[in-house]
Amino acid sequence: MARVSSVHVCSDCGHETPRWHGQCPGCGAWNTLVEEAVARPAAKASRGAAGGGAIAPVALGEVRAEAVARLSTGIGELDRVLGGGVVPGSLVLIGGSPGIGKSTLTTMALANLAASGRRTLYVSAEESAAQIKLRAERLAPAPGGRRAALEIPVIAETDLGAVLATLERERPDVCVVDSVQTLHSGALSGAPGSVGQVREVAGEIMRVAKTHGIAVLLVGHVTKEGALAGPRVLEHLVDCVLQFEGERERTYRTLRALKNRFGSTSEAGVFEMRQDGLVEVLDASARFVGEATRAPGSVVLAAMEGSRPLLVEVQALVSESDLEIPRRVVSGIDRNRLALVLAVLARHGGVGVGASDVFVNVVGGVRVDEPGADLAVALAVASAARGIALTGAPAAPEEGPGPSPLACFGELGLTGELRTVAHAERRVAEARKFGLRTVVTPEAGTLRAALRALRGRERSRPGADAQVATA
Ligand SMILES: Nc1ncnc2c1ncn2[C@@H]1O[C@H](COP(=O)(O)OP(=O)(O)OP(=O)(O)O)[C@@H](O)[C@H]1O
Ligand SMILES: [Mg+2]
Repeated sequence: MARVSSVHVCSDCGHETPRWHGQCPGCGAWNTLVEEAVARPAAKASRGAAGGGAIAPVALGEVRAEAVARLSTGIGELDRVLGGGVVPGSLVLIGGSPGIGKSTLTTMALANLAASGRRTLYVSAEESAAQIKLRAERLAPAPGGRRAALEIPVIAETDLGAVLATLERERPDVCVVDSVQTLHSGALSGAPGSVGQVREVAGEIMRVAKTHGIAVLLVGHVTKEGALAGPRVLEHLVDCVLQFEGERERTYRTLRALKNRFGSTSEAGVFEMRQDGLVEVLDASARFVGEATRAPGSVVLAAMEGSRPLLVEVQALVSESDLEIPRRVVSGIDRNRLALVLAVLARHGGVGVGASDVFVNVVGGVRVDEPGADLAVALAVASAARGIALTGAPAAPEEGPGPSPLACFGELGLTGELRTVAHAERRVAEARKFGLRTVVTPEAGTLRAALRALRGRERSRPGADAQVATA
């Protein structure tokens, strides 16, 4: 192997230095020097082969593009998020916090691919082969009783060179690399997981994968802030970035695409972690509605998870604070969004919770990142602040006793108006499907009008229906 050396390059100004500095000698920026390998003989040769000569451009219509069949992972939710399966030769980055189930998901996908006759390879730089085996044994066998997970060839290796050589020799159809932060390239002196290393590891794996048409699922860790650890350049490099999220203590997990060169990024899949692996949750709405408490502070949000409607319960608790700056604690929604909703609620809805602690939680560990959640948060907080349960029209007798939970969706404008959000009909249809008769939609016009439901019930007999603009 040719001797390789490395330089440190400033990611802001491109200044190169042989040694690492905290501050770039070129532009003075701090912490921007990243180690990079130099003089890669293979790269030089390929440039030389092109000879720098002119290349005749080809009209796109004449470009030969063979339709390649996608490889099904056998996990419907994963296939859907990928846009219909794994594209041969593509590089997919799966990010998620520790213990969320990245290794479980990728092992299950490989097991299904192996069962359907694909060549697979599991590269683990984090766990020993024995640990991977224990996990594989835990996973449920395929319908035929076959334990395909135990047929996956594995290597437990942290050296990038060895992994690349194995890939070249084995030429699997699909390979999992777990994880990109623990592989180490001998060409760089940086520790595994450093920016330079992660970039080098991903770049080299991509080179080999594209050459041999190997689809690679790269597992990546996320930082405390929720971003993929390692440089953003990793996200540019790969074809697809999937984020696996949820809370480790809860059973529900969602998988969503942040970037996808071969499909929509608005898809999301819901899973449940069980003893024998991750199970797709196809009836998530039914579960969340079934579990909804109908108590003060609870309302059902008709959300969209990608192209699919999902009903989730949003709960709020407003309690007297003993702190000078009251607490604002959220789980499943954006904290800044709560601040906005509380401000609009106080200014335009007549519900001020300034001096109280406010807790908002989306039940089941689900995260909703859409403006359509505003109204649900507002109604849940208002309901909690007044101590009045917000329920819809009584359920049909066959749906059990008592009123049905109140469903809603809509974005809050800063002037207190309700703004329409995408897929209103599908959200309403989903609520209807699960027996929620009363749905507060943006057609109510303003937050004040939407809150009238609450007020009406305060004044009148308990159990009165929420009479607001309902679809
Ligand atoms: N016996 C078990 N029964 C139920 N759930 C289990 C069992 N063993 C492990 N788990 C679940 O699997 C999770 C670990 O899954 P996995 O190893 O796939 O996560 P990971 O994202 O790869 O983690 P890491 O970041 O450590 O690599 C645990 O957090 C736990 O929720
Ligand atoms: Mg793992």
